[in-house]
Amino acid sequence: MHSSSRSAGSGTWSPPPGAEVLAPLDPSLFAPGPERDARFDVKERWVDCANFPDGHPKQVVEFLHRQMNEEIDSLESSARNLCDFPAADWEVRMCLARQCYDEARHSQMFRNLFEKRGGTVGEYPVLNFQYRIITRFANLAARLAIQNRSFEAGGLDAITAGIQQTRADGDEELCALYEAQIADEISHVRFANEWIRKLSQADPRNLLAIGQAMKAASLAFAQVMGREGTEGVSYPADREGRLEAGFTPEEVAFTASLMAEKR
Ligand SMILES: [Fe+2]
Ligand SMILES: [Fe+2]
Repeated sequence: MHSSSRSAGSGTWSPPPGAEVLAPLDPSLFAPGPERDARFDVKERWVDCANFPDGHPKQVVEFLHRQMNEEIDSLESSARNLCDFPAADWEVRMCLARQCYDEARHSQMFRNLFEKRGGTVGEYPVLNFQYRIITRFANLAARLAIQNRSFEAGGLDAITAGIQQTRADGDEELCALYEAQIADEISHVRFANEWIRKLSQADPRNLLAIGQAMKAASLAFAQVMGREGTEGVSYPADREGRLEAGFTPEEVAFTASLMAEKR
């Protein structure tokens, strides 16, 4: 899960009347998307997905489907890192390989729960923006900064909020899924933090690559999500999780204050 994930969905969903007609995405900010079979209806923008309002009976089941696909995006991005950076240090390649295994398991967990709750794979539109934003950059440190240190770190906050919410709602199954997931996501953010530091120390040009990539990625993310996909979506920073994931206390305090301001 990343910070923008929000529950939503319906197979025959169409934008509400009067919805803003948005310009196409800027192709220079995105790599080609991953392959999906004919079951999937791939959209480019959040607003074109099935976004059910809070409390709608299909909200949770659509979220499970969307998240199943996002976990696959994460798997595919890590697999691409293995493929695109064969000369990277063996240790970071092992971390990426473990991440592939974890993300595959996460996707399966979301699929199992989605199907248990009556869903059919492909029933709702999906987005592949994560893969398209991450793999646009030809630098491993930059990809780790976007995928693990941004999308997945934001996911820690969202999953922690999800654990509290599902516990309050009495949804034990989804709560257990989140608890299993967050342990893995913390390890993904942590190895990225470690390797971004190592790679930047070894070659400071990686810092420049990260800065440029983060700027472009945030423009791309804003195009995909639009105002509709981000307004009113914020969680308190998961301070404990972020510390465990290798952010410094100063970084955590800074993020927490930004997020509190947004809220
Ligand atoms: Fe995951
Ligand atoms: Fe992850």
